[in-house]
Formats: sequence, structure tokens, C-alpha cells
Amino acid sequence: MTARVALIGANGHGRWHRRQIAGLRAAGIVELVALVDVRPVEPGPDEAPYFIDHREMLREAEPDVVVICTPPHTHRPIATDALRAGADVLLEKPPVLSLAEHRALSEVLRETGRACQVGFQALGSAALRELRRSIAYGVVGTVTGVATFASWQRDDAYYQRSPWAGRRTVNGRPALDGALANPLAHAWMQCLAIMDGDKPVGVELERYRCRDIEVDDTACMRITLASGRPVVVAVTLCGEEKVEGEVVVHGTAGRGVLEYPTDRLRLPGDDGFRDVPGRTNLLENLIRHRADGTALIAPLACTEQFTAVLDVLNSAPEPVLLGGDTVVEEGDPPARTVTIKGVNTALRQTAEKLALLSELPVPWAVDPHYARLTATPENALQISEETVR
Ligand SMILES: NC(=O)c1ccc[n+]([C@@H]2O[C@H](COP(=O)([O-])OP(=O)(O)OC[C@H]3O[C@@H](n4cnc5c(N)ncnc54)[C@H](O)[C@@H]3O)[C@@H](O)[C@H]2O)c1
Repeated sequence: MTARVALIGANGHGRWHRRQIAGLRAAGIVELVALVDVRPVEPGPDEAPYFIDHREMLREAEPDVVVICTPPHTHRPIATDALRAGADVLLEKPPVLSLAEHRALSEVLRETGRACQVGFQALGSAALRELRRSIAYGVVGTVTGVATFASWQRDDAYYQRSPWAGRRTVNGRPALDGALANPLAHAWMQCLAIMDGDKPVGVELERYRCRDIEVDDTACMRITLASGRPVVVAVTLCGEEKVEGEVVVHGTAGRGVLEYPTDRLRLPGDDGFRDVPGRTNLLENLIRHRADGTALIAPLACTEQFTAVLDVLNSAPEPVLLGGDTVVEEGDPPARTVTIKGVNTALRQTAEKLALLSELPVPWAVDPHYARLTATPENALQISEETVR
């Protein structure tokens, strides 16, 4: 049976979803029954009734599945409305911005019996599956830690793209549009997936910014897991040459490296990276789940650890402003770029050594903010202690 799909948030990244939906529609898997946006919908590969108000759409179009691609601070209320209207949901990442929101949405899922898949599309990659299988077969030996680093470049225009760009809060609610929580969230979600349920017990966090923004454009954090193993994350949007995003698995028998945006893999004994193409489409997976109970690739429940770390970002001090000789500015606004000198070498070293920037000879690095995470008697994660060292 064809699933009736609606998309809320049809511009921006919503255009990518419209192309995905068009492909599934051509294959007879979905029917697009509505597009919703508070702004006029830009031209795309589709035609469907257009709504401004998602509640009106839910009443009139009665979709089976709703894709939600609105700004993160709007996710929880819109997802709640869609689930209560009887739809299953594909919710863009970051699904919610705090553990309180995660618990509230999980409760709605229990209440309604509906499903929520989160848009961490790299979790559906064949390369990640092969890496996890190789780890299970002992190809890297015993895993002692995992790290990820990425070096991207964003100009001033990026921070003018929408009202929540570069903002810590919007209308008093967390927005958290930093490098860690938004564009590079996939990188450390891959790491948490590789560590397979090993819960975080501590987060050491260093955040930096090179512009007049409220969030990090450069950051390093070390998540310590219950087993004692670290997950080190080092990312920047003020990078030198582009590093797409490498996930480095440290093992007693060697290292496995996954370039997650391009699905390339290098295992011990390989001469170099090789392509491992193929991704399971998260919407198609959700539709199969509805039809025959196929397991979801990225259910909301598997993002609790990710969201626990967002709670730490929410309560951490403002990112440190870098300037002067540490950075190089090029061009004029809105195409101006800012680059941190030597940042690529520094980020790569954190991944090599499972170290924080502040533990390396990086002159601009500052002491980390530290948060301890514990489980409540109901086995839910919470921040139990925080200090700035
Ligand atoms: N999975 C990925 O790789 C990926 C990539 C980019 C963005 N995203 C995520 O997608 C989401 C949207 O990001 P974006 O960059 O497209 O944001 P955006 O602000 O550019 O676009 C969001 C769209 O939602 C619309 N909108 C806002 N509030 C609305 C409401 N209440 N009802 C209906 N429409 C509303 C806006 O008008 C806009 O057209 C975010 O959660 C973002 O993190 C995910």
C-alpha cells in the first residue's frame, strides 16, 4: 500500500526531502499529500496541496507519515501534533534540544503507539554497517576509543541564512545552531552508534567562535563512556583545506577509518580508502517499519545519548572568541571567510591522540567545561554535576 506522506518545512533542507519523496513516489512507495511552510514554497520536483498551518494540514490531508524539516526549536511541538494526529514521523536531526524534550516526545510515542525516525541519514550507510561488522569480527582488535574530526568552511552568509542561524536560543527556547549540534552532528552520532549503547558518563567540552555568533564554529569534546573508553570530537567551520569528516576507531590491532559523508572506509591492511556505496533511505525504512515491523535505523530512543550531550552544550559557558593573529580573514561580507591558522593539524592530532585541544600545544585552547552524566532510577540520563576546570 502506498503511504500518504506530508512534508512540514518545504524550503531549505526540505528541498532535499522533496527530491527523496519524488524518487519514492516514482517507485510507487509514497504519495505526496501536502507541503507545509510558513513561507511560500519554492519550486521543486513535486506538486501537492500547500498549507501554512501544520495543524490544518493534519486535519485535512490525514497523512500516514509526516516528514518534519523545520528549525530544531520547533521540532517537539510539531512532532507531538503529528503523532497525536495518528501519523508516524521522520524528524530531522537534531530531533530535540534537551533531555526534557526527549522524555516528553518519548512519552507521546508511548501514548500514541506511533513511530519516530530521526534524520541521521549516515546511520543508514553500508560503510558504517561494514565497519561495525568488521569491529564485531575483531578486525581492529579490542576497541579502545573512537574519534572524529572534520574541517569545513562557512562564510558570513551562512550565518544569515535563517533567523536561528548562529543562535543559542530563539524566543527563549534553545536553538543551538553550533558546529557540534547542527552541521557536524552526524560525525559524533556515528561514533556513539559504533560504541553501541556504551552510555556517556562525562563530557569535557571546549567551544570557540571566530564571529559575532552565540554558538561554536569550532569545538572539541571528549565524551567518556561507562566502559571508560573515550569518544573525541573535533570540528570546525573555520577550516583550512576541507576534511569531510573522518571517524577513527582505535583498536588494539589497528585502526578503522570511515569518511562518513562520502561512505569511504579504510580498515587495517587496506592500502587506502575504498568506496562502500549505498544508504538505506530513512523514509523508506520507516514505511517498511509500518508495513512489516522492519527495525527502524534511527529511532528516537537511540538519540538519547546524543541529546544528553546537547544538554551539556545548553548549560556550558559561551564559546571563547578567537581573533587577532590566530585567524585569517578573507573577502568581504557576505562572502567573507575566517580561517583558524593551523586548525587542521590540531584537529587531526586530537583524533590521533584521543586528546582535547587544551592537552596539545595549541596556543588558543582553553580549559574545558566538564559535566558528569548519571542515570536516574528510571534509567534516564541526566547531568549530575558541572564544573569549569
Ligand atoms: N540531515 C541533514 O543532513 C540535514 C541537513 C540540513 C539541515 N538539517 C536539519 O533540517 C532542519 C531544517 O533545517 P534548514 O536548514 O532547512 O532550516 P531553514 O530555516 O532554512 O528552513 C526550515 C523551513 O521550515 C520553515 N518553517 C519554520 N517554522 C515552520 C513552521 N512552524 N511550520 C512550517 N514551516 C516552518 C521555514 O520557513 C523554512 O522554509 C533542521 O533540523 C536542520 O538541522 C538536516
